[in-house]
Amino acid sequence: DNYGSAYRPQIHWSPPVGFMNDPNGLFIDASGIWHLYFQYNPAELSVGNQHWGHAISQDLYHWVPQKNAISPEGDGLIFSGSAARDVNNTSGLFPVGNGSNNVLAFYTSALSGLQTQDVAYSTDGGYTFTKYAKNPVLNYHSPDFRDPKVFWHRETSKWVMTVAFAVDRLIAFFTSSDTIDWAPASNFSLAGEIGVIYECPNLVEVPVLKDGYTEDKFARSNIDGTAWLLLFSLVAVAPLGDSVNQYIPGSFNGTHFEAFDEEIRLTDWGQDNYAAQFWDGIPPDQGQVMIPWASNWQYTNDVPTDVAGFRGVLGLPRITGLAHTYGGKWTMISRPYPFPSSLFTNLDPSPSSNDSNSSITVAATTRVITNATSHVDISTAPALPVSAFTLKLKAASLSNRTLGGNMNFTFTITSTAESLRGGYVLGCNDNGNVGTVWLDRSGMKGYSSTHFTAHFSHSYPQDPNRSSIEVLVVVDRAIIEVFLDGGVGASGTAVWFQSHEAVLAGGIDLLQLSSRVEGEGDVQAEIQGLKSVWT
Ligand code: FRU
Repeated sequence: DNYGSAYRPQIHWSPPVGFMNDPNGLFIDASGIWHLYFQYNPAELSVGNQHWGHAISQDLYHWVPQKNAISPEGDGLIFSGSAARDVNNTSGLFPVGNGSNNVLAFYTSALSGLQTQDVAYSTDGGYTFTKYAKNPVLNYHSPDFRDPKVFWHRETSKWVMTVAFAVDRLIAFFTSSDTIDWAPASNFSLAGEIGVIYECPNLVEVPVLKDGYTEDKFARSNIDGTAWLLLFSLVAVAPLGDSVNQYIPGSFNGTHFEAFDEEIRLTDWGQDNYAAQFWDGIPPDQGQVMIPWASNWQYTNDVPTDVAGFRGVLGLPRITGLAHTYGGKWTMISRPYPFPSSLFTNLDPSPSSNDSNSSITVAATTRVITNATSHVDISTAPALPVSAFTLKLKAASLSNRTLGGNMNFTFTITSTAESLRGGYVLGCNDNGNVGTVWLDRSGMKGYSSTHFTAHFSHSYPQDPNRSSIEVLVVVDRAIIEVFLDGGVGASGTAVWFQSHEAVLAGGIDLLQLSSRVEGEGDVQAEIQGLKSVWT
């Protein structure tokens, strides 16, 4: 079937056919359903003819495709934007008594070199939309004015819009009491990584989490107030590649955003995390949820495709907050939204021949790999080729670690012909301990383009006194994501492609783990199979 093909991720959203880029219009409806719209060309495998496609989910993993929600009809392409419920009919666009089914969509209309902000409304809870008759609601006669993200600001009882003057590298804030008449409030510009074009700004109030590793970082007891996070996409310059997401922690008073400092903070150290957007409708003292597009404008129109006839995948949904971490720095905490238990599946219980531990019978395979190499068969039927699974590497009992100590984990996912490698190294330099996480796709043989074989790494200061380290790797056919220490700082998101030959020969089926620890400490690996959401 169309969702079983070789490059189709099994626990990530991708459209049935056609080309997808940015997530759009994320909101949660009255019955708790997560709505996802997306930039969509239903007719071709490259960008153009932009619509808002639509899918819904109860748990952020099992998605049900819906009819296209907003289509171009001679009035301009439907570019990126957001959605929010208008239960109190502040817009005056809804019939009396429709209440909880009132949904507003805010999008950029792109027509003949002009970009304006437009509104559409849905009286049926987000399935069908009518364009507002007097669009546009914001027009600066600009060719590069786009991506409105709108939310209700409780303290000032106003709607707030963040929108990008893309080429001017300006994020503009507007306020409104009805979403139709918008007044300019302030501008924010040239912060952190400067870049050349700004797109898809999001401003969101997030929980501030206590520092330190805990299994459930977003538990109530670990939340200590809120702060604001301004997230935006920017077209950067080499060596970063083209498309990156940046975040800036700060405060917001209803009209002005103020950054806490001038640090540069990218959300990802891979090349496939862009145009991320947050869901509307989650209270600010709970983890906020965002989802990125897992591609890059530098090469998105060249991404390998297979018989399924689709191009474009979103990254995992990420539960997100801020924290003061080691060194007193504000850091984003962001990790996969918890997997529903229905997603877990047993790994193939048959151990490989050179594996000393032969009793793998439970869903989560755990083993200690200190100063050793271990092999795990990941050919979990029926998810071939390439299972979806999580790999969690944990180092514990590190309390007596001395400066100069060294620890090294490596994972290699292989078939006979190809391999994907990654790992984590804890070492030290003059400033103290440094954690480095890396990913090497050069052993993937199918595609010579360096876009899909580039090597990435990310280094960050690591508290020498901490007692544990965690590296979470989620592998899903053609995409891999790496998260550190329960979600501290940037993730690593990368697409990867096996050759068609390797896929036909059975694909990748073995996970090899190794670790070397000098001094005290254990490394444990937990491998958990994930079931396809499409079967
Ligand atoms: C970001 C973006 C947006 C625009 C959309 C068009 O990836 O360039 O700025 O609205 O894609 O599809």
